[in-house]
Amino acid sequence: MRSQPHRGRARWWPGRAVAGASALALGAATLAVASPAQAAEGCEVEYTVVNEWSTGFTASVSITNLGDALNSWELEWEFSGDQRIGNGWNGSFSQSGRAVTVTNANYNGTLATNGSAQIGFNGTFSGENEVPESFTLNGVVCDGGTNEPDPDPTDPPDPDPTDPPEPGEKVDNPFAGADMYVNPIWSENAAGEPGGDAIADESTAVWMDRRGAIEGNDSPTTGSMGLRDHLEEAVAQADGDPMVIQVVIYNLPGRDCAALASNGELGPDEIDVYKNDYIDPIADIMSDPAFADLRIVTTIEPDSLPNLVTNVGSRPTATENCNEMLANGNYVEGVAYALDQLGAIPNVYNYIDAGHHGWLGWDDNLGPSVELFHDAATTGGASVDDVHGFIVNTANYSALEEPYIDVNGTVNGQQIRQSSWVDWNRYVDELSFAQALRTRAVSAGFNSDIGMLIDTSRNGWGGSERPSGPSSSTNLNTFVDESRVDRRIHVGNWCNQSGAGLGERPQANPEPGIDAYVWVKPPGESDGSSEFIENDEGKGFDRMCDPTYEGNARNNFNMSGALGNAPLSGHWFPAQFQELLANAHPPV
Ligand code: BGC
Repeated sequence: MRSQPHRGRARWWPGRAVAGASALALGAATLAVASPAQAAEGCEVEYTVVNEWSTGFTASVSITNLGDALNSWELEWEFSGDQRIGNGWNGSFSQSGRAVTVTNANYNGTLATNGSAQIGFNGTFSGENEVPESFTLNGVVCDGGTNEPDPDPTDPPDPDPTDPPEPGEKVDNPFAGADMYVNPIWSENAAGEPGGDAIADESTAVWMDRRGAIEGNDSPTTGSMGLRDHLEEAVAQADGDPMVIQVVIYNLPGRDCAALASNGELGPDEIDVYKNDYIDPIADIMSDPAFADLRIVTTIEPDSLPNLVTNVGSRPTATENCNEMLANGNYVEGVAYALDQLGAIPNVYNYIDAGHHGWLGWDDNLGPSVELFHDAATTGGASVDDVHGFIVNTANYSALEEPYIDVNGTVNGQQIRQSSWVDWNRYVDELSFAQALRTRAVSAGFNSDIGMLIDTSRNGWGGSERPSGPSSSTNLNTFVDESRVDRRIHVGNWCNQSGAGLGERPQANPEPGIDAYVWVKPPGESDGSSEFIENDEGKGFDRMCDPTYEGNARNNFNMSGALGNAPLSGHWFPAQFQELLANAHPPV
């Protein structure tokens, strides 16, 4: 598989309004609670500082009504410092001392149950710019809970949130309090390499990358274990405790439309085969009552929907195959079908693949992508309730955090965003991107409790090349290039990257809004062959995997940065495994 941005030219419109825009989430708060009342009341507020400079800031505030429908609303909070509101949008703002009151505009006063309004403002401050601690909507504290009207005293008490879920009920974060499945096939490969023992008991995802993988067809990619074998093994590993097993759904018709390395077995029009002979059998196996206690986490179709946004139409990055998949609708129909069929199973948790910051981090990519995710999640029988969250950086190399680069900062009076590396992107790393994407997805209509996953299998960027602090250069590009931990030649490079290391080990709840860091791409499995290799898997040869290739519009014509002598995508690649171990961050 591949993951690549649209890139090739800067996208920047000076003066363009970015109200409610995504951006660096410098702070976010979700707070509040209930008071006795006649009607059901409740609300949730997300306050995000989307931009900040030395004396001012832009904040975006998302208000979600969790109670009965409202015809008008008044939101109140208190600043903890000397923040002053300048201009605001989507509401009437007033401020007295630290107290702020915002009433609805004439077009957004009606808030259905679970309906949201987005407001925003520019403000000034000095000292600390703390996120307000508490918000009220029409006098009710917004803590994300709801108080029901006139409780019947004979009703059973509310369940304790720490109780295990009833059968048939999904938990908020499937990773919380659960063990993670170790795939014996990958584990054996890893343990067979010098030094590999140290990580061989980490959890990696199981890829259903062809119909044959469902039964386990002894392929070099999946070994002899089929889906049922893995689920049975997961039950055994669980030994009665909560257990997460991750399964990648990756077999759309016309797969990998902007690259060749992971072209798959199904032609562009084979949507019925996808549904009947791929998704249906997977759903049958997953819904077997023998597996009801597992938490089955799916990654839904890496790269597919992002490709329909960035690699189509008149963009210089467009490909014929992506245009075809956009026109025939089979990516959207396939994703919708997968969400619907798998989401209906009570213990399956779907996370839609959402590219990475170096692909979708530009405003003109992120907005349309979130809309497309929502379209797919509401196509056919699918609904937003079938989506538990999103995953970013699947099989990619984008750094989790760039500790020495502030994307909104300047060097010698020039904006960091203007550097060649950043190229006007709004993000430089996956954590900020994932958190902002979450906020935007909720604004677009996804449930407010969705969570994010980040594939940290190969984004460690440790080793001797890792900078230990910011550069002292006053030249913008030198500063960025010497400060960044991501050592790729270009952020659009995606194949077997030289210098990459293992990233954060899989773990639950690492940061606000992030359900888990996960290893979806099993470290040591190739992204694609570095030269053409005959095969019966439908895999092509993509020159982005050839170390001598000088690039294309999607990596702005840079060298590919790929390791040589690589086998087909998914096949074991010992030399890459050694690089990943050596450059691990945190170190192994
Ligand atoms: C390949 C799949 C493989 C997966 C995990 C993808 O790039 O196309 O065949 O299962 O990577 O290694």
